[in-house]
Amino acid sequence: MKRVLSGIQPSGELHLGNYLGAIRQWVPLQDQYECFFTLADLHALTSLTEPSDLQRFLHEQVVTYLSCGLDPDKAVIFKQSDVPHHAELMWILATVTPMGLLERAHAYKDKVAKGIGSTVGLFAYPVLQAADILLYSADLVPVGKDQKQHIEIARDIADKFHTRYGQVFTVPEPMIPEEVAVIPGIDGQKMSKSYNNAIPLFASDEQLKKLVMSIITDSAGVADKKEPVGTPLYEIFKLINPEKAEQAAQMLRAGGYGYGDAKKELLSALQDFLSPLRAKRVEVEKKKGYVEEVLQDGARSAKAESGKIMDRVRKLVGL
Ligand code: ADP
Ligand code: TRP
Repeated sequence: MKRVLSGIQPSGELHLGNYLGAIRQWVPLQDQYECFFTLADLHALTSLTEPSDLQRFLHEQVVTYLSCGLDPDKAVIFKQSDVPHHAELMWILATVTPMGLLERAHAYKDKVAKGIGSTVGLFAYPVLQAADILLYSADLVPVGKDQKQHIEIARDIADKFHTRYGQVFTVPEPMIPEEVAVIPGIDGQKMSKSYNNAIPLFASDEQLKKLVMSIITDSAGVADKKEPVGTPLYEIFKLINPEKAEQAAQMLRAGGYGYGDAKKELLSALQDFLSPLRAKRVEVEKKKGYVEEVLQDGARSAKAESGKIMDRVRKLVGL
């Protein structure tokens, strides 16, 4: 059976982009593949500085994984830092990774351009991600489009290792849902935990309303005819409810229908879209000790699996 591995760093509240671009795709994969889903807390240290934030986001993320339909009976759900092999393999991979490969990474360049201080950790982030993937011999890595380059870097690092020491890793393929591409945030840039433009999956009704109403639009008036394709309002709406989005689009094009009207429609569609996730969340939170148990079991399975590759790697490099 083919292997799947993916993960998200607990660096903020999970949002619609994370769900549509990543987590939603993971759910059906659990029935077809052997799946590993990690909470990449070591990665989160490259952007978080407050320990209590990390703890809070981590807990929130496990609850979100479970509320979105990830199932510990079908997949291994684990915290990256519970498995020391990730940091160990990262170091070994770093010794075969050319600087130039990382210097070309968009995510690193973007983050530095956004003012996140540049550290060795931030620079080496893709090497840790490569370790995450290669430790589990993952064939497929389901992620959003923005992660494509990181998977390509993981492939390159595996090749470099193989050239020097011999074959041991499975060279992974990215799995990217084409129809989703990159979901815009309320300001029109990529929706991201770190850009303050996200619609959190578990926002309160009040917060949801505020966010939807503040989605950026141009200044065309109610009476004007407006072309919505390509605007964040339409692009988000289309993914939430394509039929209603199309109706709103037609009315915007005809004129006499304002952006505010379309936003109200989107808000109601969004509430319907999120309601099963909210219901599942209530169920998950009812079970006392469940989250801790899921992580303990996940850590045990992940350690056992990654230990096999790690033993072979140590031998190959002469440790
Ligand atoms: P963020 O940018 O919010 O920190 P991450 O980089 O942690 O998000 O991404 C976690 C997963 O969610 C990845 O698979 C990523 O591709 C996906 N993802 C994040 N933001 C978006 C988006 N705006 N559109 C599509 N997918 C996204
Ligand atoms: N870098 C990924 C992101 O920001 C998170 C991640 C960490 C990941 N390790 C991974 C994704 C391994 C896929 C596979 O979304």
